[in-house]
Amino acid sequence: QQKGQVLPKQPELRVLHHKISGYVGFANLPKQWHRKSIRRGFSLNLLCVGQGGLGKSTLINTLFNKQLYDLEGKPTEDLAALKLEDSENLSESLERPQGEEQPSVKIETISTDIEENGVKLALTVVDAPGFGDAIDNTDSWVPIVREIDSRFDQYLDAENRIDRDVIQDHRIHACLYFIEPTGHCLAPLDLEFCKAVHQKCNLIPVIAKSDILTDEEIEQFKHTIKTQLDNAGVELFEPPQYSLDDKDTVARCAALCTRMPFAVVGSTSEVSTPDGRRVRGRSYPWGVIEVDNESHSDFVHLRDLLIRLYLMELREKTENVLFERYRSEKLMSLGIKQDNSVFKEYDPELKQKEEKQLHEAKLAKLEAEMKAVFQQKVNEKEKKLQKSEAELFARHKEMKDKLLKQLKALEDKKHQLEMSYANQSANSPAQTKKKGFLR
Ligand code: GTP
Repeated sequence: QQKGQVLPKQPELRVLHHKISGYVGFANLPKQWHRKSIRRGFSLNLLCVGQGGLGKSTLINTLFNKQLYDLEGKPTEDLAALKLEDSENLSESLERPQGEEQPSVKIETISTDIEENGVKLALTVVDAPGFGDAIDNTDSWVPIVREIDSRFDQYLDAENRIDRDVIQDHRIHACLYFIEPTGHCLAPLDLEFCKAVHQKCNLIPVIAKSDILTDEEIEQFKHTIKTQLDNAGVELFEPPQYSLDDKDTVARCAALCTRMPFAVVGSTSEVSTPDGRRVRGRSYPWGVIEVDNESHSDFVHLRDLLIRLYLMELREKTENVLFERYRSEKLMSLGIKQDNSVFKEYDPELKQKEEKQLHEAKLAKLEAEMKAVFQQKVNEKEKKLQKSEAELFARHKEMKDKLLKQLKALEDKKHQLEMSYANQSANSPAQTKKKGFLR
């Protein structure tokens, strides 16, 4: 489900718990999953960013208890070849906008398989040498953001391919950001970087070489950093909490969150403690700092968060939140739109209203159709009446004309008869006598 989308409300479900009498076998599913996971192995792509000399290589070596980088911070010999291969595939193949200068920040990748108790971890560390080391560090985070994006793009392309049997996941699962142990506050570059990447990868800030600060200085420094990050709206990776979590897990999770940014110390060298133990740590005239002692630094907590407790959560958040966000933004920027109407919240009142409106619209349409048919019939009848009226009128006129003609003819005849009668009377003797007598 995408962020912001609300699925229709589901009817309330009543879960009935039944105990089954015989053995079915699905209780074995976790074991199947375990076997499959062991066979397949795990992977972690870790981005390490910070100024040179802050102890990045040392911390990576300490975290994975393996010499991935030599004392000069260069990948050890067997990893150097891999480093070249990987950088050719990803960051080096990025197209730089025309006219843009060769950046002083480089992207270097090393990959290695490590194994612990039969569990394999394909580890990739992405380093950004040169970051923050120039006099003008404006935009020095740009090549790193481009690297993160290119890894998302590569995954997106692989997903969209027809043949996508095995998709290599090169996406960054976590970013360790090394803060200089000044004890004051974050530099503008630190804030710029955090703001640029916090929506693209799980950001985990660490205070490097914290052994040079006192406990009070560390507490104060952490407080200032948190306030600055909060004010800048930067989201750090926080382990998720689930309702089924037991009290201990909830407390452990809360403790990890409050300890961020982790004040770490790194060292793969073994030193002797005053009580004669051999431990990984740093030896000073005033005492020994034990790397794996949680009262000496936050290293153990960082390892818990990154590897022991929440590695899978880091991967899941990358997959379900960060990559999803990148994917939808990318698709939207390409002009692809989604019809979200199906995700509208189900509201029975709204639904009833919509149905009523639909019904009323149907009735209105039916009424209009009936009116139109009626009007058409009236018009036809009117036309017929007008036609027969006109015919009657014409026939009436014709008869009238005929009668008038006959009348005229009769009158003419009458007149002629009267004339001839008058002529005859005037010429008869009786009439002549009468005329003479009278005269
Ligand atoms: P670049 O390779 O230049 O990027 O340096 P880096 O950040 O990888 O630092 P690196 O691990 O090479 O350490 C630089 C120096 O700091 C080395 O001399 C380390 O021994 C020392 N160093 C590493 N971690 C710590 C630490 O936690 N505390 C102290 N005091 N020194 C450390």
